[in-house]
Amino acid sequence: MTFLFHSDAVRGAVFREIFAREIPELPFSMDPATVDPDAVRYLITWTVPPDLARYRNLEVLFSIGAGVDQFRLAEVPASMKIVRMVEDGIVRMMQEYAVLAVLTLHRALPAYLRQQRDEVWQALPQPQACERRVGVLGLGMLGQAVIERLKPFGFPLSGWSRSQHDIDGVTCFAGEAGLDAMLAQSDILVCLLPLTNETRGFLDAGLFDRLPRGAGLVHVGRGPQLNHDDLIAALDGGQLSGAMIDVTEPEPLPPGHAFWNHPKIVLTPHVASVTQPRTAARAVIDNIRRLRDGLDPVGLIDRSRGY
Ligand code: NAP
Ligand code: GLV
Repeated sequence: MTFLFHSDAVRGAVFREIFAREIPELPFSMDPATVDPDAVRYLITWTVPPDLARYRNLEVLFSIGAGVDQFRLAEVPASMKIVRMVEDGIVRMMQEYAVLAVLTLHRALPAYLRQQRDEVWQALPQPQACERRVGVLGLGMLGQAVIERLKPFGFPLSGWSRSQHDIDGVTCFAGEAGLDAMLAQSDILVCLLPLTNETRGFLDAGLFDRLPRGAGLVHVGRGPQLNHDDLIAALDGGQLSGAMIDVTEPEPLPPGHAFWNHPKIVLTPHVASVTQPRTAARAVIDNIRRLRDGLDPVGLIDRSRGY
């Protein structure tokens, strides 16, 4: 029974060290060329290797990241469990980024950067946090963690998910029926939805038009959820006032793409949150122990929902 690490060598070295110390009875390999394919029971990777079928006894496919949209789920045998990454490092980084992004838009940083470039010294109107409503799309591991970090600032908070949630101090909406009301009260909208058939292309002109005029967008979900042309049109037309974008389609953006130099966009290269190998290795080991005890792993994907 072997654990195969199929991702970058730097993180792999940390996994190897922690596995050797904490679960020494489980052989650990980082080399598909030398591993006995029949021995591989657990595989961790970002994308599904094209030769997945050679691991005939593979039981669990772990994603090295929080999302699993990069796996083509239909190509993974139904008998195989698929598990996303649920670990504290990803959560902490996303909390930092979301606070940075919400405050960037709340305190009009893109406008002040333009003023600096133009040598303009001028205060802009500044609403208080209690007057700036923040809405979060997706109330899973990351959406809820982000909301908890935003609470102390005093923004009125709301959230939207597929199933109804109940979060202290947060107005929670669910499903298509709740979406209009949620959008209508989001001066800053944060997208933390997984990429599924339902959420592909979700952030488009129709959605932007349902936000209050002058709203801001923080996009940290997945690139294909955002319609780039619609975002540019909404920013140029004033329906949106600014956007902080971490994920795009494609990644990286091609030279000359409108996002690179748009004065109302702050762009980061898919770095909002990155799996931290020390905490991630421990989370995976905990999951292997849960599996051995006959329990579902934390982060088990429901294939019918796609996340
Ligand atoms: P999660 O725990 O699976 O939560 C997903 C949330 O989205 C849930 O609240 C779910 O509703 C909701 N949802 C899914 N489909 C929906 C739909 N059609 N309508 C309404 N709500 C829907 O996921 P997570 O761990 O929070 O991660 C979210 C995503 O963040 C990942 O999938 C990934 O794409 C992205 N991410 C980005 C970065 C980055 O660096 N930019 C890093 C990590 C993750 P229910 O609660 O009702 O199930
Ligand atoms: C990064 O985007 C992840 O899914 O962990």
